[in-house]
Amino acid sequence: MTAPASPPAPGTAPQVAKGLDSVIADETRISEVDGQRCELIYQGYHLDELVGKASYEEVSYLLLYGALPTRQQLAGWTAQLNTHRSLQPEMVAALTQFPRTARPMAALRTAVSLLGLYDTEADEEPVEVFYRKAVNAIAKTPTIVAAIGRLRQGQPPVAPQPELSHAANFLHMLHGCAPSVEQGQALDAYFVLLADHGFNASTFTARAVASTKSDYYSAVCAAVGSLKGPLHGAANRKAMEMLEEIGAPEKVEPYVQKTVADHKRFMGFGHRVYKGPDPRAKHLKEYARRLGEHRGEMKWFAISERLQEAVWNAKKLYINVDFYSASLLHYLDIPTELFTTMFACARIAGWSAHIIEQAANNRLIRPLALYTGPRNLRFVPIDQRPS
Ligand code: ACO
Repeated sequence: MTAPASPPAPGTAPQVAKGLDSVIADETRISEVDGQRCELIYQGYHLDELVGKASYEEVSYLLLYGALPTRQQLAGWTAQLNTHRSLQPEMVAALTQFPRTARPMAALRTAVSLLGLYDTEADEEPVEVFYRKAVNAIAKTPTIVAAIGRLRQGQPPVAPQPELSHAANFLHMLHGCAPSVEQGQALDAYFVLLADHGFNASTFTARAVASTKSDYYSAVCAAVGSLKGPLHGAANRKAMEMLEEIGAPEKVEPYVQKTVADHKRFMGFGHRVYKGPDPRAKHLKEYARRLGEHRGEMKWFAISERLQEAVWNAKKLYINVDFYSASLLHYLDIPTELFTTMFACARIAGWSAHIIEQAANNRLIRPLALYTGPRNLRFVPIDQRPS
């Protein structure tokens, strides 16, 4: 157990770490986000070691179990994912009843909650049971997202195809046809790149909920709610909307000037931890470029590249993970409104690993607050209060 921080010396003001900036809240073996070196490590593997070599199936196993799977372990893990991919008819019926106006992340949050309702082990505590819940959620999240996407277009959900990879199967379930090899590889790399990222806001949210000994699905629901925010996961959707608003490469510079003048934020730029380039961004850029070439439609990549340069010149801001995610996902014909749910499809592996790690070595997460409100007020009966 970690020793609690010492109280401030008498007469000194306690320090407030606004936004928990630079606070080390716990230990983890799952991933390291090195803000100075601008490196991301999954269970000892530098991200550059994994991207394009390890599939999402291997990386999700790595995050959960701490080692890359053997051939036999991978076959078993893939078989488990395949077994859990299909949604119960009750789940499909419920998704069909969601209002068409519901935003996809709100629909996903509700659907994860429903997963908990239909899991008879949802409230069982042993950590071993958490692994079964993790398989269920990692397998079903893409099925849910594809179904949400299709139902919003007035189309029925498409059943999973067990012979396809996790990523290719998603594209099949969304579009109703098998993707090309390039498309499957790009989405697989996207899932690998976004699978985990230390104590980011949604993962920390999941751990905080797990620390109360609440159930796995409640922790994931809360994480989805946290990811939904534009300063976190919704930045990929906002980045695409920004590219669409710009519309053409030659309109980039006036857009940047106006955004700076209006003191607005560039979505997909900046990062709390990285003091230099986000290590995921260069890979996403390369996959976005390849997909653009594959489609013979470089417009979105060209706008992105010019914007990256113009924002650097104007504000010295680096791109983050969400910036090239936007054109990558767009080139996969994923509707912009679904972008943040795609992030959730990847991050569900990291959330699950962190919930399990928290549960296995738990201490209630309960920080202090510095009270700055009034004191010593006297109670005034309601009929004597000023109206
Ligand atoms: N565009 C314009 N200015 C920015 C941006 C940006 N994207 N990011 C930071 N800044 C500026 C701020 O305006 C601020 O300037 P000021 O001191 O003159 O007011 C300064 O940089 C520091 O900003 P903070 O918000 O305090 O920095 P923080 O570390 O809290 O911000 C954050 C990190 C929230 C990611 C921020 O960079 C941002 O809002 N980016 C846009 C949203 C985004 O892309 N989010 C995804 C992050 S990655 C992820 O969660 C998956």
